[in-house]
Amino acid sequence: MSAPCAARILRHCDALAACSEAPGALTRTFLSAEQRAANARVSAWMQEAGMQVRLDAIGNLVARYEADAPARPALILGSHLDTVRDAGRYDGMLGVLTAIECVRSLHARGRRLPFALEVVGFGDEEGVRFGATLLGSRALAGTFERACLELRDAAGTTLREALLAFGLDPQRIGEAARAPGTALAYVELHIEQGPVLEAEGLQLGVVTAINGFSRLALTFAGRAGHAGTVPMALRRDALAGAAQCVSAIERIGRATPELVATVGRIEALPGAINVIPGEARFTLDVRAPSDAVRERAVAEALAEARAIGQQRGLELRLERLQDQAAARCAPWLIAQLEDALRAEGLTARALASGAGHDGMAMRAIADIGMLFVRCKGGVSHHPDESIAAEDCAAGARVLMRFIESFRPGGG
Ligand code: HGY
Ligand code: MN
Ligand code: MN
Repeated sequence: MSAPCAARILRHCDALAACSEAPGALTRTFLSAEQRAANARVSAWMQEAGMQVRLDAIGNLVARYEADAPARPALILGSHLDTVRDAGRYDGMLGVLTAIECVRSLHARGRRLPFALEVVGFGDEEGVRFGATLLGSRALAGTFERACLELRDAAGTTLREALLAFGLDPQRIGEAARAPGTALAYVELHIEQGPVLEAEGLQLGVVTAINGFSRLALTFAGRAGHAGTVPMALRRDALAGAAQCVSAIERIGRATPELVATVGRIEALPGAINVIPGEARFTLDVRAPSDAVRERAVAEALAEARAIGQQRGLELRLERLQDQAAARCAPWLIAQLEDALRAEGLTARALASGAGHDGMAMRAIADIGMLFVRCKGGVSHHPDESIAAEDCAAGARVLMRFIESFRPGGG
Protein backbone atom coordinates (compact mmCIF):
# COMPACT_ATOMS: atom_id res chain seq x y z
CA MET A 1 0.00 0.00 0.00
CA SER A 2 2.01 3.05 -1.15
CA ALA A 3 -0.63 5.80 -1.01
CA PRO A 4 -0.16 8.18 1.98
CA CYS A 5 -1.55 6.40 5.02
CA ALA A 6 -3.81 8.48 7.27
CA ALA A 7 -3.77 5.83 10.00
CA ARG A 8 0.00 6.18 10.32
CA ILE A 9 -0.25 9.99 10.37
CA LEU A 10 -2.80 9.88 13.19
CA ARG A 11 -0.81 7.24 15.06
CA HIS A 12 2.26 9.45 14.89
CA CYS A 13 0.28 12.48 16.10
CA ASP A 14 -0.69 10.38 19.11
CA ALA A 15 2.94 9.32 19.64
CA LEU A 16 4.13 12.95 19.55
CA ALA A 17 1.46 13.92 22.08
CA ALA A 18 3.46 11.88 24.61
CA CYS A 19 6.41 14.27 24.22
CA SER A 20 5.04 16.78 26.71
CA GLU A 21 6.37 18.60 29.77
CA ALA A 22 3.07 17.93 31.51
CA PRO A 23 1.52 14.46 31.20
CA GLY A 24 -2.08 14.76 30.02
CA ALA A 25 -1.68 18.44 29.08
CA LEU A 26 0.34 18.51 25.84
CA THR A 27 2.97 21.23 26.16
CA ARG A 28 6.16 21.18 24.10
CA THR A 29 8.13 24.40 23.99
CA PHE A 30 11.16 25.52 22.02
CA LEU A 31 14.51 23.87 22.82
CA SER A 32 12.99 21.80 25.60
CA ALA A 33 13.75 18.17 26.46
CA GLU A 34 10.32 17.42 25.01
CA GLN A 35 11.32 18.98 21.70
CA ARG A 36 14.44 16.83 21.69
CA ALA A 37 12.29 13.73 22.25
CA ALA A 38 9.86 14.75 19.50
CA ASN A 39 12.75 15.49 17.11
CA ALA A 40 14.13 12.00 17.70
CA ARG A 41 10.82 10.39 16.74
CA VAL A 42 10.18 12.62 13.74
CA SER A 43 13.78 12.19 12.46
CA ALA A 44 13.31 8.40 12.50
CA TRP A 45 10.08 8.68 10.52
CA MET A 46 11.77 11.05 8.05
CA GLN A 47 14.62 8.57 7.53
CA GLU A 48 12.18 5.68 7.07
CA ALA A 49 10.57 7.80 4.36
CA GLY A 50 13.88 7.90 2.48
CA MET A 51 15.02 11.37 3.50
CA GLN A 52 18.35 12.73 4.73
CA VAL A 53 17.72 14.51 8.03
CA ARG A 54 19.63 17.27 9.83
CA LEU A 55 19.07 19.69 12.69
CA ASP A 56 19.67 23.21 11.48
CA ALA A 57 21.43 25.94 13.43
CA ILE A 58 18.33 27.04 15.36
CA GLY A 59 16.92 23.58 16.04
CA ASN A 60 14.55 23.05 13.09
CA LEU A 61 14.44 19.51 11.73
CA VAL A 62 15.16 19.64 7.99
CA ALA A 63 14.74 16.52 5.84
CA ARG A 64 15.48 16.28 2.11
CA TYR A 65 14.26 13.86 -0.56
CA GLU A 66 16.46 14.26 -3.59
CA ALA A 67 15.15 14.90 -7.08
CA ASP A 68 15.78 12.73 -10.14
CA ALA A 69 19.07 14.66 -10.45
CA PRO A 70 21.36 16.08 -7.73
CA ALA A 71 21.34 19.61 -6.28
CA ARG A 72 17.92 20.55 -7.63
CA PRO A 73 15.93 23.36 -5.92
CA ALA A 74 13.31 22.15 -3.47
CA LEU A 75 9.61 22.47 -2.87
CA ILE A 76 9.57 23.00 0.91
CA LEU A 77 6.74 21.41 2.93
CA GLY A 78 6.22 21.17 6.67
CA SER A 79 4.91 22.96 9.73
CA HIS A 80 5.89 23.38 13.40
CA LEU A 81 6.58 20.80 16.13
CA ASP A 82 6.17 23.06 19.14
CA THR A 83 2.82 23.52 20.87
CA VAL A 84 0.93 25.96 23.07
CA ARG A 85 0.20 25.00 26.68
CA ASP A 86 -2.37 22.21 27.14
CA ALA A 87 -2.50 21.99 23.36
CA GLY A 88 -4.20 19.85 20.80
CA ARG A 89 -2.17 17.21 18.98
CA TYR A 90 -2.76 18.31 15.38
CA ASP A 91 -1.77 22.02 15.33
CA GLY A 92 1.58 21.87 13.51
CA MET A 93 2.19 18.13 13.82
CA LEU A 94 -0.43 17.23 11.20
CA GLY A 95 1.39 19.29 8.55
CA VAL A 96 4.81 17.79 9.28
CA LEU A 97 3.56 14.20 9.46
CA THR A 98 1.36 14.44 6.35
CA ALA A 99 4.29 15.82 4.35
CA ILE A 100 6.51 12.96 5.59
CA GLU A 101 3.81 10.46 4.61
CA CYS A 102 3.67 11.87 1.08
CA VAL A 103 7.44 11.46 0.72
CA ARG A 104 7.18 7.95 2.14
CA SER A 105 4.68 7.16 -0.62
CA LEU A 106 7.06 8.43 -3.33
CA HIS A 107 9.92 6.47 -1.74
CA ALA A 108 7.83 3.28 -1.59
CA ARG A 109 7.08 3.66 -5.28
CA GLY A 110 10.72 4.46 -6.07
CA ARG A 111 9.53 7.74 -7.59
CA ARG A 112 11.81 10.77 -7.96
CA LEU A 113 10.52 14.16 -9.12
CA PRO A 114 12.26 16.84 -11.20
CA PHE A 115 12.61 18.89 -8.02
CA ALA A 116 13.73 18.00 -4.52
CA LEU A 117 11.33 17.90 -1.59
CA GLU A 118 12.22 19.20 1.84
CA VAL A 119 10.11 18.66 4.94
CA VAL A 120 10.76 21.05 7.83
CA GLY A 121 9.66 20.57 11.43
CA PHE A 122 10.01 24.10 12.77
CA GLY A 123 11.21 24.32 16.38
CA ASP A 124 9.27 27.39 17.40
CA GLU A 125 6.17 28.81 15.75
CA GLU A 126 3.98 29.42 18.80
CA GLY A 127 6.38 31.64 20.71
CA VAL A 128 5.19 30.21 24.05
CA ARG A 129 8.61 30.04 25.74
CA PHE A 130 10.21 33.33 24.67
CA GLY A 131 7.23 35.47 23.62
CA ALA A 132 8.33 36.13 20.04
CA THR A 133 6.97 33.67 17.46
CA LEU A 134 8.18 32.11 14.20
CA LEU A 135 11.76 31.91 15.53
CA GLY A 136 12.47 28.73 13.54
CA SER A 137 11.03 29.88 10.23
CA ARG A 138 12.51 33.37 10.59
CA ALA A 139 15.97 31.83 11.00
CA LEU A 140 15.43 29.63 7.94
CA ALA A 141 14.17 32.66 5.98
CA GLY A 142 17.18 34.71 7.06
CA THR A 143 15.09 37.30 8.96
CA PHE A 144 15.97 36.22 12.51
CA GLU A 145 16.69 39.28 14.67
CA ARG A 146 19.74 38.71 16.88
CA ALA A 147 18.12 40.82 19.61
CA CYS A 148 15.81 37.82 20.14
CA LEU A 149 18.79 35.95 21.63
CA GLU A 150 18.33 38.07 24.79
CA LEU A 151 14.63 37.19 25.20
CA ARG A 152 14.06 35.38 28.50
CA ASP A 153 11.64 32.60 29.38
CA ALA A 154 9.65 32.45 32.63
CA ALA A 155 12.68 30.97 34.44
CA GLY A 156 14.89 33.83 33.24
CA THR A 157 16.82 31.69 30.74
CA THR A 158 17.75 33.59 27.59
CA LEU A 159 17.25 32.15 24.13
CA ARG A 160 21.03 32.27 23.81
CA GLU A 161 21.46 30.08 26.90
CA ALA A 162 18.72 27.72 25.77
CA LEU A 163 20.38 27.23 22.38
CA LEU A 164 23.70 26.42 24.08
CA ALA A 165 21.98 23.98 26.45
CA PHE A 166 20.38 22.30 23.42
CA GLY A 167 23.85 21.86 21.90
CA LEU A 168 23.51 24.67 19.34
CA ASP A 169 25.77 27.67 18.79
CA PRO A 170 23.91 31.03 18.84
CA GLN A 171 26.73 32.54 16.81
CA ARG A 172 25.91 30.18 13.93
CA ILE A 173 22.16 30.85 13.62
CA GLY A 174 22.85 32.63 10.34
CA GLU A 175 23.79 29.24 8.85
CA ALA A 176 20.12 28.21 8.98
CA ALA A 177 19.23 30.90 6.45
CA ARG A 178 18.33 30.02 2.87
CA ALA A 179 19.06 32.50 0.10
CA PRO A 180 15.91 33.89 -1.54
CA GLY A 181 15.07 31.89 -4.66
CA THR A 182 16.62 28.63 -3.46
CA ALA A 183 13.15 27.30 -2.59
CA LEU A 184 10.60 26.75 -5.34
CA ALA A 185 7.72 27.38 -2.90
CA TYR A 186 6.68 26.74 0.69
CA VAL A 187 3.40 24.83 1.11
CA GLU A 188 1.92 23.92 4.50
CA LEU A 189 -0.98 21.64 5.39
CA HIS A 190 -2.60 22.68 8.68
CA ILE A 191 -5.86 22.25 10.57
CA GLU A 192 -8.17 25.23 9.98
CA GLN A 193 -8.43 26.05 13.69
CA GLY A 194 -11.73 27.71 12.89
CA PRO A 195 -15.37 26.75 12.17
CA VAL A 196 -15.80 27.63 8.48
CA LEU A 197 -15.11 24.28 6.76
CA GLU A 198 -17.21 22.34 9.27
CA ALA A 199 -20.08 24.85 8.98
CA GLU A 200 -20.10 24.39 5.20
CA GLY A 201 -19.67 20.60 5.32
CA LEU A 202 -16.28 20.74 3.59
CA GLN A 203 -13.23 18.59 4.35
CA LEU A 204 -10.51 20.90 3.03
CA GLY A 205 -9.91 24.52 2.07
CA VAL A 206 -7.22 26.59 0.34
CA VAL A 207 -5.83 29.61 2.18
CA THR A 208 -5.86 33.01 0.44
CA ALA A 209 -3.97 34.99 3.10
CA ILE A 210 -2.76 34.81 6.71
CA ASN A 211 -3.92 37.64 8.95
CA GLY A 212 -1.20 39.86 10.41
CA PHE A 213 -0.68 40.11 14.17
CA SER A 214 0.77 42.35 16.87
CA ARG A 215 1.95 40.95 20.20
CA LEU A 216 2.63 43.25 23.16
CA ALA A 217 3.31 42.98 26.89
CA LEU A 218 1.93 45.74 29.13
CA THR A 219 2.61 46.41 32.81
CA PHE A 220 0.73 48.75 35.13
CA ALA A 221 2.70 49.73 38.24
CA GLY A 222 0.84 51.26 41.19
CA ARG A 223 1.33 50.78 44.93
CA ALA A 224 0.91 47.58 46.86
CA GLY A 225 -0.78 47.93 50.24
CA HIS A 226 -2.81 46.33 52.99
CA ALA A 227 -6.18 45.20 51.60
CA GLY A 228 -7.85 45.96 54.91
CA THR A 229 -6.52 49.39 55.77
CA VAL A 230 -6.06 51.44 52.58
CA PRO A 231 -9.25 53.40 51.74
CA MET A 232 -10.47 52.88 48.16
CA ALA A 233 -9.92 56.54 47.24
CA LEU A 234 -6.25 56.36 48.23
CA ARG A 235 -5.38 53.27 46.23
CA ARG A 236 -3.23 52.87 43.11
CA ASP A 237 -4.49 49.39 42.33
CA ALA A 238 -2.57 48.04 39.31
CA LEU A 239 -4.91 45.11 38.72
CA ALA A 240 -8.03 47.30 38.76
CA GLY A 241 -6.36 49.46 36.11
CA ALA A 242 -5.45 46.42 34.04
CA ALA A 243 -9.00 45.10 34.30
CA GLN A 244 -10.37 48.42 33.03
CA CYS A 245 -7.87 48.23 30.15
CA VAL A 246 -8.86 44.64 29.28
CA SER A 247 -12.49 45.77 28.99
CA ALA A 248 -11.44 48.66 26.74
CA ILE A 249 -9.48 46.25 24.54
CA GLU A 250 -12.47 43.94 24.21
CA ARG A 251 -14.66 46.93 23.28
CA ILE A 252 -12.18 47.94 20.54
CA GLY A 253 -12.13 44.34 19.23
CA ARG A 254 -15.91 44.10 19.13
CA ALA A 255 -16.27 47.48 17.44
CA THR A 256 -13.79 46.81 14.59
CA PRO A 257 -14.95 44.50 11.76
CA GLU A 258 -12.61 41.54 11.01
CA LEU A 259 -10.35 42.46 13.96
CA VAL A 260 -9.70 40.25 16.96
CA ALA A 261 -8.03 41.41 20.19
CA THR A 262 -7.09 39.05 23.02
CA VAL A 263 -5.57 39.34 26.47
CA GLY A 264 -4.32 35.79 26.92
CA ARG A 265 -2.30 36.12 30.09
CA ILE A 266 -2.53 38.39 33.14
CA GLU A 267 -0.79 38.30 36.49
CA ALA A 268 -1.09 40.45 39.61
CA LEU A 269 1.86 40.98 41.94
CA PRO A 270 2.59 40.23 44.69
CA GLY A 271 -0.46 37.98 44.22
CA ALA A 272 -1.70 37.62 47.82
CA ILE A 273 -5.39 37.72 48.75
CA ASN A 274 -4.89 40.49 51.30
CA VAL A 275 -2.52 42.75 49.34
CA ILE A 276 -3.58 45.44 46.87
CA PRO A 277 -1.78 44.53 43.61
CA GLY A 278 1.15 46.88 43.12
CA GLU A 279 1.85 45.52 39.66
CA ALA A 280 -0.24 43.92 36.90
CA ARG A 281 1.26 42.42 33.75
CA PHE A 282 -0.75 41.29 30.76
CA THR A 283 -0.32 40.37 27.11
CA LEU A 284 -2.13 41.74 24.07
CA ASP A 285 -2.61 39.87 20.76
CA VAL A 286 -4.28 41.87 17.95
CA ARG A 287 -4.98 40.47 14.46
CA ALA A 288 -6.68 41.54 11.24
CA PRO A 289 -6.50 40.89 7.49
CA SER A 290 -5.59 44.57 7.03
CA ASP A 291 -2.32 45.79 8.54
CA ALA A 292 -3.63 49.37 8.67
CA VAL A 293 -6.74 48.33 10.64
CA ARG A 294 -4.60 46.31 13.04
CA GLU A 295 -2.11 49.14 13.60
CA ARG A 296 -4.96 51.61 14.24
CA ALA A 297 -6.53 49.25 16.77
CA VAL A 298 -3.21 48.79 18.61
CA ALA A 299 -2.75 52.59 18.73
CA GLU A 300 -6.29 52.98 20.12
CA ALA A 301 -5.69 50.31 22.77
CA LEU A 302 -2.43 51.96 23.86
CA ALA A 303 -4.10 55.38 24.06
CA GLU A 304 -6.74 53.84 26.35
CA ALA A 305 -4.02 52.25 28.49
CA ARG A 306 -2.18 55.57 28.85
CA ALA A 307 -5.41 57.40 29.80
CA ILE A 308 -6.22 54.75 32.43
CA GLY A 309 -2.70 55.00 33.82
CA GLN A 310 -2.97 58.78 34.18
CA GLN A 311 -6.48 58.63 35.64
CA ARG A 312 -5.41 56.07 38.27
CA GLY A 313 -1.86 57.26 38.99
CA LEU A 314 -0.36 54.10 37.48
CA GLU A 315 2.90 53.91 35.59
CA LEU A 316 2.53 52.10 32.24
CA ARG A 317 5.38 50.04 30.84
CA LEU A 318 5.08 48.67 27.32
CA GLU A 319 6.99 46.00 25.37
CA ARG A 320 6.23 45.48 21.71
CA LEU A 321 7.08 41.81 21.30
CA GLN A 322 6.34 41.41 17.61
CA ASP A 323 4.51 42.88 14.65
CA GLN A 324 3.98 40.50 11.73
CA ALA A 325 2.39 41.79 8.51
CA ALA A 326 -0.43 39.87 6.85
CA ALA A 327 0.88 37.35 4.30
CA ARG A 328 -0.85 36.74 0.97
CA CYS A 329 -0.64 33.25 -0.55
CA ALA A 330 0.57 33.13 -4.16
CA PRO A 331 -2.25 32.89 -6.74
CA TRP A 332 -0.33 30.25 -8.73
CA LEU A 333 -0.07 28.03 -5.64
CA ILE A 334 -3.73 28.64 -4.75
CA ALA A 335 -4.62 27.57 -8.30
CA GLN A 336 -2.54 24.36 -8.14
CA LEU A 337 -3.94 23.45 -4.72
CA GLU A 338 -7.47 24.05 -6.02
CA ASP A 339 -6.70 21.88 -9.08
CA ALA A 340 -5.54 19.09 -6.75
CA LEU A 341 -8.73 19.40 -4.69
CA ARG A 342 -10.95 19.24 -7.76
CA ALA A 343 -8.97 16.29 -9.16
CA GLU A 344 -9.83 14.48 -5.92
CA GLY A 345 -13.50 15.34 -6.42
CA LEU A 346 -13.55 17.92 -3.62
CA THR A 347 -14.87 21.50 -3.50
CA ALA A 348 -12.17 24.15 -3.71
CA ARG A 349 -13.14 26.54 -0.89
CA ALA A 350 -10.80 29.51 -0.48
CA LEU A 351 -10.57 31.21 2.91
CA ALA A 352 -8.30 33.46 4.99
CA SER A 353 -6.42 32.25 8.05
CA GLY A 354 -7.07 34.02 11.35
CA ALA A 355 -4.28 31.95 12.89
CA GLY A 356 -0.62 32.74 12.28
CA HIS A 357 1.63 30.27 10.49
CA ASP A 358 5.25 29.78 9.46
CA GLY A 359 4.39 30.87 5.94
CA MET A 360 4.38 34.46 7.24
CA ALA A 361 8.15 34.16 7.68
CA MET A 362 8.83 31.80 4.76
CA ARG A 363 7.42 34.24 2.21
CA ALA A 364 10.68 36.19 2.59
CA ILE A 365 12.37 33.49 0.48
CA ALA A 366 9.53 31.86 -1.48
CA ASP A 367 5.91 32.09 -2.49
CA ILE A 368 3.62 30.38 0.00
CA GLY A 369 0.49 28.23 -0.14
CA MET A 370 -1.60 26.51 2.53
CA LEU A 371 -4.09 23.66 2.58
CA PHE A 372 -6.56 23.60 5.49
CA VAL A 373 -8.10 20.48 7.00
CA ARG A 374 -11.44 20.68 8.82
CA CYS A 375 -11.21 20.30 12.58
CA LYS A 376 -14.08 19.40 14.91
CA GLY A 377 -15.98 22.47 16.10
CA GLY A 378 -13.11 24.63 14.87
CA VAL A 379 -11.52 23.96 18.27
CA SER A 380 -7.74 24.43 18.53
CA HIS A 381 -5.10 25.41 21.10
CA HIS A 382 -7.07 23.04 23.33
CA PRO A 383 -6.90 19.31 24.16
CA ASP A 384 -10.31 18.83 22.48
CA GLU A 385 -8.70 19.64 19.10
CA SER A 386 -9.58 16.76 16.79
CA ILE A 387 -9.90 15.75 13.14
CA ALA A 388 -11.74 12.93 11.40
CA ALA A 389 -9.62 10.14 9.89
CA GLU A 390 -11.33 10.62 6.53
CA ASP A 391 -10.40 14.35 6.56
CA CYS A 392 -6.79 13.44 7.38
CA ALA A 393 -6.84 10.99 4.47
CA ALA A 394 -8.35 13.60 2.13
CA GLY A 395 -5.66 16.10 3.12
CA ALA A 396 -2.91 13.56 2.45
CA ARG A 397 -4.39 12.58 -0.93
CA VAL A 398 -4.70 16.22 -2.05
CA LEU A 399 -1.21 17.14 -0.84
CA MET A 400 0.17 14.07 -2.63
CA ARG A 401 -1.59 15.02 -5.85
CA PHE A 402 -0.44 18.64 -5.50
CA ILE A 403 3.18 17.50 -5.09
CA GLU A 404 3.12 15.13 -8.07
CA SER A 405 1.45 17.75 -10.28
CA PHE A 406 3.55 20.65 -8.98
CA ARG A 407 4.70 23.05 -11.69
CA PRO A 408 7.26 25.48 -10.27
CA GLY A 409 6.25 29.11 -10.79
CA GLY A 410 2.91 28.02 -12.14
CA GLY A 411 4.32 27.38 -15.63
O1 HGY B 1 -1.15 32.09 17.43
C1 HGY B 1 -1.32 31.59 16.32
O2 HGY B 1 -2.08 32.08 15.52
C2 HGY B 1 -0.56 30.37 15.92
O3 HGY B 1 -1.21 29.25 16.42
N1 HGY B 1 0.78 30.45 16.40
MN1 MN C 1 -0.97 27.26 17.08
MN1 MN D 1 -0.02 26.07 14.01
